[in-house]
Amino acid sequence: MKIKQQLNQIIHQAFDNANIDEKPISVTEATKAEFGDYQFNGAMALAKKLKSNPREIAQKIIDVMPQNTMIAKTQIAGSGFINIWLEDSVLSQSLQQALEDSRLGIKPKDNPIKVVVDYSGPNMAKQMHVGHLRSTIIGDSLANLLEFLGDEVIRQNHIGDWGTQFGMLIAYLEHIDEDGNVSLKDLEQFYKDAKAKFDSDKDFANKAREYVVKIQSGDSHCIGLWEKFINISLGHCQEVYDKLNVNLSDKDVKAESFYNDDLSKVIDELDGSSMLTLSDGAKCVFLDGDDIPVIVQKADGGYLYATTDLAALRYRAKVLGAKRISYIVDARQSQHFKQVFAIAKKCGFVPQDVKLEHIAFGTMMDKSGKPFKTRDGGTVKLIDLLDEAIIKAKNAITNRDGFSQEELDKVAKIVGIGAVKYADLSINRESNYIFDWDKMLSFDGNTAL
Ligand code: ARG
Repeated sequence: MKIKQQLNQIIHQAFDNANIDEKPISVTEATKAEFGDYQFNGAMALAKKLKSNPREIAQKIIDVMPQNTMIAKTQIAGSGFINIWLEDSVLSQSLQQALEDSRLGIKPKDNPIKVVVDYSGPNMAKQMHVGHLRSTIIGDSLANLLEFLGDEVIRQNHIGDWGTQFGMLIAYLEHIDEDGNVSLKDLEQFYKDAKAKFDSDKDFANKAREYVVKIQSGDSHCIGLWEKFINISLGHCQEVYDKLNVNLSDKDVKAESFYNDDLSKVIDELDGSSMLTLSDGAKCVFLDGDDIPVIVQKADGGYLYATTDLAALRYRAKVLGAKRISYIVDARQSQHFKQVFAIAKKCGFVPQDVKLEHIAFGTMMDKSGKPFKTRDGGTVKLIDLLDEAIIKAKNAITNRDGFSQEELDKVAKIVGIGAVKYADLSINRESNYIFDWDKMLSFDGNTAL
């Protein structure tokens, strides 16, 4: 029998022993380690009914709990929660049982569905940074979980490969790429250099602007440069994915540019549903209850991030046939997703029965509570961070277990990357996340080591 069922039986028995006539509600998994392993919060509702003090009721339930070999400790918390700690033997037995089954004791779902999981989504103009780490780690875990449960998962890496900055970048690529082989080792630096030239050299700035138009109109020279740039940038991301051991490759990339031909259709359909309002020449959608409209086409004809996401929703529901579409994106984009989901449903881009969800996560902070940066204030490159994790893990395990050099390298990789992933997955997803090497790579406490 499952641990939860057994605990519920114990609580049932306690209710009987105390002559309480109500049916107890179920225990739930504790949400934080300091709350124990499970929690029972039935005392509050019961206290209301019996017009009595919830903490007293909780104590009464604990007092008459039947003798058992499962519960190591109970504690009354807050307004009558009962926190429950299990005996270590219960957990180890349950883990042992799970290990003996190739599916860890988890049955596939009865009704699997098609799910799109949108995660990672780096921008090609810049180096992938820590902000994309959480999306990549959480998204990949979620995709793996759903797949394990039997859903048909379609991973979508919605990379940012379109926009005016690419005019400047490809003009600069052409400028320095006379011999045809730029490695673009440091994209961040490349961007800075291109921007400096753009700001100081009028002819270059004009060329950059001209190249924006040329990419958009499909000019083959400019498209060639743009493709080259995207491929190099995507190659950097793939290095990170491989090092992180996440399940993303070229086949999962559906870039923003993929939806270019659909953008005018999105506008036409919105217009057909009488959802557009013209404001200073821009096409906008006003949603009930929102004062600020969603702009879907600028006065100069340009489209926006929201327009592309509407096209992507339409494609995912209509062409891919997804019944659930999940976005693993920073919490700061909540408003954006709320709006595009509402528009997509209202306009019929996505049928009503399709579940749309923004699985938001908090920002990565440093120990002093500021967004995570390098010592000189720049953004931290993901590949450097992962390499550092491996080196630190190696230092942490070196004098410990008498590994050979080869074993040490192998274990350091597993432990270092595992620690980065575990640190991210073990905390509340929605809180801001404090990146702390010492805590992450400590042998004590709730870490991967
Ligand atoms: N490129 C975006 C960013 O870095 C994330 C993309 C998320 N996915 C989406 N469909 N909007 O902020």
